[in-house]
Order: sequence, then structure tokens, then C-alpha cells
Amino acid sequence: MAQASKSASPNDRIQFAIIGIGMQGSGLLPNAISLPGATCVAAADLYEGRHTLAKQITGNPNLPTTRHYQEVLDRKDIDCIIAAVPDHWHMRVVVDACNAGKDIYCEKPMSHTIPQGFEMAHAAERNNRIVQIGSQRVSSVLCRKAREMYHDGVIGDIEMVELSLGRNSPTGAWEYPPPFDASPETIDWDTWLNDAPKIPFDKYRFARWRCWREYGTGVAGDLMVHLLSGMLYTLGWNEPPRSASALGGIFRWKDGRNMPDLHTVLFDYHGIPVYVRLSLAGETPELARFIGPKGILDTSGTYIRYTPQTGADDGPSYYASSFPREMRDQYREQWHREHDPVPGHEPTADDTTYEGHDWDDVKPHLWTFFQSVKSRQPVAEDAVFGNHAAIACHMANESYFRKQTVYFDAEAKSIKA
Ligand SMILES: NC(=O)c1ccc[n+]([C@@H]2O[C@H](COP(=O)([O-])OP(=O)(O)OC[C@H]3O[C@@H](n4cnc5c(N)ncnc54)[C@H](O)[C@@H]3O)[C@@H](O)[C@H]2O)c1
Repeated sequence: MAQASKSASPNDRIQFAIIGIGMQGSGLLPNAISLPGATCVAAADLYEGRHTLAKQITGNPNLPTTRHYQEVLDRKDIDCIIAAVPDHWHMRVVVDACNAGKDIYCEKPMSHTIPQGFEMAHAAERNNRIVQIGSQRVSSVLCRKAREMYHDGVIGDIEMVELSLGRNSPTGAWEYPPPFDASPETIDWDTWLNDAPKIPFDKYRFARWRCWREYGTGVAGDLMVHLLSGMLYTLGWNEPPRSASALGGIFRWKDGRNMPDLHTVLFDYHGIPVYVRLSLAGETPELARFIGPKGILDTSGTYIRYTPQTGADDGPSYYASSFPREMRDQYREQWHREHDPVPGHEPTADDTTYEGHDWDDVKPHLWTFFQSVKSRQPVAEDAVFGNHAAIACHMANESYFRKQTVYFDAEAKSIKA
């Protein structure tokens, strides 16, 4: 078992290594080194071009780089790891890091399969490690505000949640341009494949791995996991759904992928319906909508809008149009007498909008992680939370592929039909 050290650094500084400096890692790295006290002292990637990139981002031409991440895990002067490798590598990197006594910020979705998530949570607990999963909105001011508002009771007890997001462009649909020099010489392809079936080098799979189930987790693990993590945090839930019922297909991007580009899911969270709509075939705004008896809380990238509802009649019932005239007049007169506001006290529409910092900014989430590495206080999006969010994504995919509702068997820690 690894020692539960406070920090390997002699002072309050954080020395970290990054594993995976691709699209997301190249965004995490500059943000991480911009935080006070944080220094990147090593970078690991299977592709040579990203060694160069890590040196360029850190401005350190002598930054130690390697294809073998175990080398950075073996270094005693490294406090923690930031990992932005494809989904099919998350489990091995997190378990190896925890076993090596390193705290780790690992990208979302936490796992590639359900058993992996439990193995990762177990490794974190066994080694007393801080593990933070990378759905960054959980550390945003907007998410915190939404959580406060919900717990202040602004919408009452939650009755339903709607989560939606749509894109409509090749990049939005993961058709990324492979690096010009991608080849078996510049990339350790055999290692990259990990536990996926062995196939000859394919630069498209290297760049567009999200399109295939062998490496990625589809729109569920790529996009829905953010919406679900935000929802779990806002509502103060920390659990997998009881069931998932999905429908979708490959509507637009018939490029050889095996993951759906349109995915709708209805989850049952202890009796609360959570409806999710994700599309790579039609652009719609990103929205998490929380509906309760006292109103609606809409949250999106940079705002929260609260629309209160009284639930009371705002006019005589239209059913009364079916009454004979005298009865109808009598009903209306009585309604107005009982409901009309006192003059001067007419109600005003009081929607409230909070504008905030972009909840996709990774900096607050990295900051939260570094603080926890130092303080040993738990993070909100730890391995247990991350596992719960990821399980929902795996259930959404299982339901889509099996074409039936799937249930989570908490005792067996597995999905059943
Ligand atoms: N939080 C977010 O908003 C967000 C956004 C984008 C991606 N992500 C997540 O970040 C992760 C990475 O995605 P990406 O788009 O950057 O992928 P990418 O393919 O662009 O980069 C991944 C990098 O990891 C390297 N790699 C793979 N296996 C490795 C190993 N065993 N050792 C060392 N390096 C290895 C690859 O060579 C590649 O350079 C994914 O889990 C993805 O879901 C999160």
C-alpha cells in the first residue's frame, strides 16, 4: 500500500506530471502551470509530437518527456498527476498512479466500463489518494450557485430534469484532422491500443477514437457525463440511476463509427425522471433544466435563470366557457372577487438571471484539485462521484446497443436487462 503522504514536495509548491498532452491535455497544461505554486516537471505521451508540444507549452525545452508513464510515476519528487488520455486508458493510469502513491486528476468519463470504475474507486480508497475526475463544471461558481439555490428551495423538491446539447459540425462530431506526421514511428500504436483489439496503425482511430466503442464512450461519455455531473452536484445526489432507457442512431456521420451520433435517454434516479437529448446531427444550446413545483432553474455555460411559478390560477378557468351564461358570469365574478390583487399590489414577473464565469473553464477545477493535494480534504468529484456519473453513461450505451431498458444492480455492481 502506498504511503498517505501529505505532499512529496518540501514546501507548499505542487510538482506535477502530465500524461496525455493531446487536445484536452494541451488545454489543461497551460491552465495548470498558470496557477500559483504549480510546476510541471515531466510529461508522458505515446506520440512524439506531443513531447514537443509539452516543452512548448511549459516554455521548458529541457522538460523531461517519455513514452512510458510509469517513469513519471516512479519519480519521488512528483506530487500528483494530470491525465488526459483516451477513455480506454483511464483505469490503468489511475490505478497505477494510486498504487504509486500519486494523487491524480483524471479526465472524464472516469471509466470505460462499469467494473473499471469500481476498481478505480477501490484503488483510490486503498491508497488514500485524492482522485478528481475532470467534469470541470462541478468546481464552477455557476454550479455552486445553482446548488445553493436548489437547496434554498427556490423550485421546491425536484420533479424532473432535462439535459440537452446538440452540435452540427465535423469537429463537433469528432472528425478531427490527424497530425500530419502520425505514423507507427512517431506513435507507439501497440501500446495506444491497450486492451482494444489489435489492428494495424490507423491515424484516424488515433485522432478520432471517440467514434469507436473500443476506445471511447460515445456522446454519453464525452458530453452527457458533464451534464450529469453538473446535475448530481447541483441536486446533491451521489448515486447511479436505477434504470436507463435509450433510443438513438447514426443519423448523419456515416463515417465508419460505431457510436451513435444521436442519443436520447430517460433515466430513473430514485423515481425522478431525468431526460437527456444529445445530438451531433443538429445544433441546439446546452441546457440543464431543473423543474419543481415552485419554478424552473435553467443552467447553461455562463448563466443560471430562475423562473418562479406560483402554481396558482392566473385567470378564471377556461372550463367555465362550457357553463350556461348566467352560471359562467357568476363563476367569473366570484373568481375575480377571490383572486384579483389589491390595487397597487399587482404581482411583477421576477425572473432572475445570474451571469457567471464559463463553467467549462478548467482552471477552477485544477485549483480545487491542487488545494486538495495539499490539504488532503476530499474533492467533490472524487472517484465515487465520478464512478456514479460514468455508470449512467455506460447504462445509456448499454440500453442503446441492447435496444432495451437496462437496470443497475447495486449489489452485483453491474447492469442487468
Ligand atoms: N473535460 C473536458 O471538457 C474534456 C474535453 C476534451 C476531452 N476530455 C477528455 O480528455 C481525455 C483525452 O481526450 P483528448 O481529446 O485530449 O484525446 P487526444 O487523443 O487528443 O489526446 C490523448 C493523448 O493521450 C496519449 N496517450 C494515450 N495513451 C497513452 C498512454 N498509455 N501513455 C501516455 N500517453 C497516452 C495519446 O498519444 C494522445 O496524445 C478523454 O478522456 C476525453 O474524454 C475532456
